[in-house]
Amino acid sequence: MVIEDQVLRDGWIAACREVDVKDDPMQVIILGERVVLFKNEEGIHAFKDLCIHRGAALSLGKVKDGCLVCPYHGWEYKASGECVKIPQLPAGAAITSKAKAITFGCKASYGFVWVNLNNNEPVLFDYPEYHDQNYRNVIWGPQTVKANPPRIIENFLDVSHLAFVHEGYLGVQEKPEISDYKVHTKDGRIFTDEIIVYQPNADGTGISKDVLYTYEVLNPITARFTKRDPSANHEFSMFMTVLPVGECDCIAFGVESFNYDIGQTDEEAIEFQNTIFYQDKPIVENQKPEELPLDLQAELSLKFDRLSIGYRKYLKELGVTLGVE
Ligand code: FES
Ligand SMILES: [Fe+2]
Repeated sequence: MVIEDQVLRDGWIAACREVDVKDDPMQVIILGERVVLFKNEEGIHAFKDLCIHRGAALSLGKVKDGCLVCPYHGWEYKASGECVKIPQLPAGAAITSKAKAITFGCKASYGFVWVNLNNNEPVLFDYPEYHDQNYRNVIWGPQTVKANPPRIIENFLDVSHLAFVHEGYLGVQEKPEISDYKVHTKDGRIFTDEIIVYQPNADGTGISKDVLYTYEVLNPITARFTKRDPSANHEFSMFMTVLPVGECDCIAFGVESFNYDIGQTDEEAIEFQNTIFYQDKPIVENQKPEELPLDLQAELSLKFDRLSIGYRKYLKELGVTLGVE
């Protein structure tokens, strides 16, 4: 079932990692919509995964001379969506302009393929660390989660669970207090002041320290933080973005960026992030209601929940419907 959330359809949604698109076309499901991704010399392209002729899934076909070839009767579509060959017609016969694939906006950035279902050319959020020579970037994900996208993003933005869900890693129960912080809304950005958190194993290296977190909401399904260790001038940033496959069915991805040597391979950094993620997963998969309440009276929020309140208000203002109530 296609999910008609126009706010999300208007934006860029991470479909997969760039490295996942191989020589053969692949299917991804975005907001219930079957999408085929394929690559040719010009780059990566996204079509509705449906042949106009008899409804075959184009993702079962192949790429030939830069065209996507339907598996059923061999019609060939250019990256623009135009059908340039119908093998059953005599050579040189005119092809009706109705023979077209439905195309979606598609681009590669930050190691991912992004799809824009409404073809309205939105601006993708900025994540400067990715292009900064001072940072090493590690692509994280895909990780599946059976939860609504806003529950997953709100969890990522939640500083007060660190001492409990991530006890021994990102916090300790003896130091659960959250320093007072404000949430700022400026030029459409929503971000926090620095929040002090004591961490026994801040980055998987086993070293305990007080670190400073700043969070920011980048779009309804993407958020970031920077964790700064002022004693060493170390910074670790990460964004997480969520691909809404279905109502309660997501795939999470992210980029981790370090401006210091963490003494770990990419695989080890990913493994540490997976460990943290598996601690969050049962929490978000079992929250009730499944949908994030946008009525701010529906749950009890205290002052350290300011960011989650800011996020909920933002979703309400934008008119996001998927996974909220
Ligand atoms: S269904 Fe695609 S060519 Fe016939
Ligand atoms: Fe967490």
